[in-house]
Amino acid sequence: MGFCHACGARDPLVEAPRPRRGEGPWAAAHGSSVPLQLSDVSLDDTPRILLPYAELNRVLGGGLVPGSILLMAGDPGIGKSTLLLQIAAALAPKGRGRQADAAQPQGGVLYVSGEESAAQVRMRAERLGIDGHGLYLLGETDVAEALRWMDNTAPAAVIVDSIQTLYTEDAPSTPGSVAQVRECTRLLLGWAKARQTPVLLSGHVTKEGDVAGPRVLEHMVDVVLYLEGESLGPYRVVRSVKNRFGSTDEVALFQMQGNGLSEVEDPSQALLSQRQGPLVGAIVCPVVQGSRPLLVEVQALTSPAVGPVPRRVANGLETNRLTMLAAVLSRRAGLPLGGQDIIVNVAGGLRVSEPATDLATALAIASAFRNQPLAPDLVALGEVGLSGEIRPVPQMGRRLQEAARLRLRRAIGPMEAARESVDGIAVTPVSTLSRALTAALPKERGRARADAGSPDDAED
Ligand code: TYD
Ligand code: MG
Repeated sequence: MGFCHACGARDPLVEAPRPRRGEGPWAAAHGSSVPLQLSDVSLDDTPRILLPYAELNRVLGGGLVPGSILLMAGDPGIGKSTLLLQIAAALAPKGRGRQADAAQPQGGVLYVSGEESAAQVRMRAERLGIDGHGLYLLGETDVAEALRWMDNTAPAAVIVDSIQTLYTEDAPSTPGSVAQVRECTRLLLGWAKARQTPVLLSGHVTKEGDVAGPRVLEHMVDVVLYLEGESLGPYRVVRSVKNRFGSTDEVALFQMQGNGLSEVEDPSQALLSQRQGPLVGAIVCPVVQGSRPLLVEVQALTSPAVGPVPRRVANGLETNRLTMLAAVLSRRAGLPLGGQDIIVNVAGGLRVSEPATDLATALAIASAFRNQPLAPDLVALGEVGLSGEIRPVPQMGRRLQEAARLRLRRAIGPMEAARESVDGIAVTPVSTLSRALTAALPKERGRARADAGSPDDAED
């Protein structure tokens, strides 16, 4: 129409530049587009670049792939710049003051910062104990300028902090817009593939489904890592949500301290380290993140609703799942939660989206609501169905082993869990949620008898 209905701007629609022929990852890596017989395609066996973080290497599927483009996404202030600077320092050539390096980043690491001044980056480096040799800062937001330096100096790796600050004159919109972000990434992608050099980008995630955010980027880049956590808590989780060179959903746990991020070697132990005594509304649940079992503590609190509609708040778990569990607890296990606000939380800021946490969440809620403690050496695993049945979850043996390793002694789980005999842990198999409740909360037994005949699950 030539103008915008909302703001009245003239000619607000802009055409996104279309990809040119002979560009993009395929063309860069294979020359032109000629059909290749699959068996003739040479196996990409270039060695990976190992970072001095074993956990991060594992999340990457065995290290950084040369020529790959990685996006580190996360909320502002979560630690993206910190981690990227630590990675940059690790990739920078060692050895003090080589003359050849002094003026040109040949073989060094180029850190393109559109977000912070050189002094700010230097200050962070000080804090991290990074001396900065072999690490070159470029304060630039024009991608063409950045690429010119990249071409001329052949760095070993390039960091771009952040992709939203870059712009190109080829796309007409403002920096940070979808067209700009896409075009800049496309240019960097071509460069990374052609030069077989890794490029690491940082990208913000905004709360509001974000138009210009890393969502469009996720499709373009090779690896997407999310940095998650409570920005005030000590732990940060690096999670692979996309990886063309490895499996996804792998996590590494880091700890943010005064001198930067350091790897946590035994995440299960770290996440449970704050536990003590029998706890009301808290229970351990073994989850599987990528290829690894991990123990997390699920916590719940209930209190009489303050508004007309009871609130369901889930931190680290899915709110829909919580709503479902509250309904099942009410209808199938006789817990009158209708007038209660319910808050559940995964301790340590981890996000889990597995149905395997259902039973633990339900038990934590029941424990909080009844004000009865759960045994500190108890774990719960299992999916809860709408009729209150407890369903099996994948890899129960490995989950129980992880629990046993950290000296948890008892488990409540689905009937199938009884088949997994793991040393040091006694499994109580349950078929329904009300049975799980009576097994976990001793005082529920009396109640169940008193209510016998009412809910669906009278003991027989
Ligand atoms: P930053 O890497 O700037 O976050 P992002 O790039 O994702 O926006 O990290 C900022 C936070 O990390 C800030 O709140 C301070 C904290 N921090 C530490 O606790 N210790 C450290 O050594 C550093 C460098 C930062
Ligand atoms: Mg930053």
